[in-house]
Amino acid sequence: MAKDEKTYRSASWFGLGDRDGFIHRSWMRNQGYPDDLFDGRPVIGICNTFSELTPCNGHFRQIADYVKRGVYEAGGFPLEFPVTSTGETLVRPSAMFLRNLMAMDVEESIRANPIDGVVLLTGCDKTTPGLLMGAASCDLPSIVVPGGPMLSGRFQGTTIGSGTSVWQFSEEVRAGKMSEADFLEAESCMSRSAGHCMTMGTASTMASMCESLGLTLPGAAAIPAVDSRRYKTAWLTGRRIVEMVREDLRLSKILTRTAFENAVRANAAIGGSTNAVIHLMALAGRAEVALSLEDWDEWGREVPTLVNLMPAGRFLMEDFYYAGGLPGVLARLLERNLLRGEAPTVNGRTIGENVAGTRVWNEEVIRPFDKPLLASGGIAVLKGNLAPGGALVKVAAASKNLMKHTGRAVVFSSIEDYKARIDDPALEIDETSVMVLQNCGPKGYPGMAEVGNMALPEKLLKKGVRDMVRISDARMSGTAYGTVVLHVVPEAADGGPLALVRTGDIIELDVEARRLHLDVPEEELQHRRRQWQPPKPSFPGGYQELYIRHVQQADKGCDFDFLRGRRGAGVPKENH
Ligand code: FES
Repeated sequence: MAKDEKTYRSASWFGLGDRDGFIHRSWMRNQGYPDDLFDGRPVIGICNTFSELTPCNGHFRQIADYVKRGVYEAGGFPLEFPVTSTGETLVRPSAMFLRNLMAMDVEESIRANPIDGVVLLTGCDKTTPGLLMGAASCDLPSIVVPGGPMLSGRFQGTTIGSGTSVWQFSEEVRAGKMSEADFLEAESCMSRSAGHCMTMGTASTMASMCESLGLTLPGAAAIPAVDSRRYKTAWLTGRRIVEMVREDLRLSKILTRTAFENAVRANAAIGGSTNAVIHLMALAGRAEVALSLEDWDEWGREVPTLVNLMPAGRFLMEDFYYAGGLPGVLARLLERNLLRGEAPTVNGRTIGENVAGTRVWNEEVIRPFDKPLLASGGIAVLKGNLAPGGALVKVAAASKNLMKHTGRAVVFSSIEDYKARIDDPALEIDETSVMVLQNCGPKGYPGMAEVGNMALPEKLLKKGVRDMVRISDARMSGTAYGTVVLHVVPEAADGGPLALVRTGDIIELDVEARRLHLDVPEEELQHRRRQWQPPKPSFPGGYQELYIRHVQQADKGCDFDFLRGRRGAGVPKENH
């Protein structure tokens, strides 16, 4: 292959003829790289979130190998590097707490190294936004390979989905309807292959967000992790990133407000996770794109939920892929002028060109517009004296009969308080009550845990109650469901009105009117505010202190205040 005529960023390391160039190349040669790899060709960083502690990304070494094949084939030089990896199931206090650390790691690793373009290997929930945020601040040509979902869970003749079935089963056990032996058996029946959660949880949602933003090759979001087409996509992505470097197709050319509009509408159509709101707000902050909670409400409100996947519906990601995947959904949005077809994508074509005419093969899984799963999908953004900065409810996951509800608050001051009292037979609570959880927001937890979908009291579960209104400053897993009001801004630990709610207060929720109201006179709230003391951080110091000092509220995506914006990938000073 002829040598590239352009000079790339990596030439500031490998292209030097002096002592520094010797040092940069010599130590790399100990890995067996031949001379021509240092001839000025594009160097492609493969940003890998492989970790045995992040089981959803456990197959990423293999995916990286396929990306490398494509990079070599296109005349690039692939170099894989690890970054902080956060899995949802093991990391404490929450993977979200480490998302910004991961984004800092990604940004600084890219900027510090001889990299001209980046392939981002994303899978488990936070690994997608963490990598996108870091890469957006650097603004090199970048492309995403999602790791893909697990195969569908199969248990006792039924299909079961990651997360969603766990919440169902644990409530069945508590209600005395499922044995503990069956509960244990379900563990391995649910997680049958490599890949991330195969419900439309946060991982599947964020992969779909990447595709609808134009950051993956078409169709990449839904391919099962173990399907050979996942590996073919990785290979083709390796080829494409080299071309993107030659074309100087940077992230900022893809991540426009139009792309975010498409992603917000796609999120409504797939019945995506509320976590997407936080992550896309953070990404927009990095990409310097104006995006507000009101945009989410406005863009998503007219879009029906077409995708019939758990937790809102019946099917799983494997079914979704076979039915046509995200291109099938985007094509339907395009036909209805609900997709801005002119948005550019990483393959050099517009998103409209990529998806136009894609057929849907199973209309139960991807519903037509005249038979949607839900007429109005999307995320409802609530405002009122209880959430002056906004709060969210995922309409697709909520119960219709609770969308307008007035009830008596039962307040838990922390998740520990909730756990200690929820099953106390003396707790005064019934199905009309509104469960309120405080101090689980970005600063309060810290890290904004996924505890907003508090399990109902055992005594009500045994009566057959399956949903109640729940309000908190926390998040909830994308695999969860229920009439759950989340992301209340400002959070309780930051002095938001949520901190002032007391058991017995009356709360009004009206999703149609987008209203969340605490029916307590203003003078009484002022009185309570004077008595309020901010909670003390439980173990200040280290990263935790940095986090609490700098994390922004949910409406800003919980990014650190000092990380917003693009800082580019200027070449840092030499160190020897
Ligand atoms: Fe990793 Fe759900 S736990 S995607």
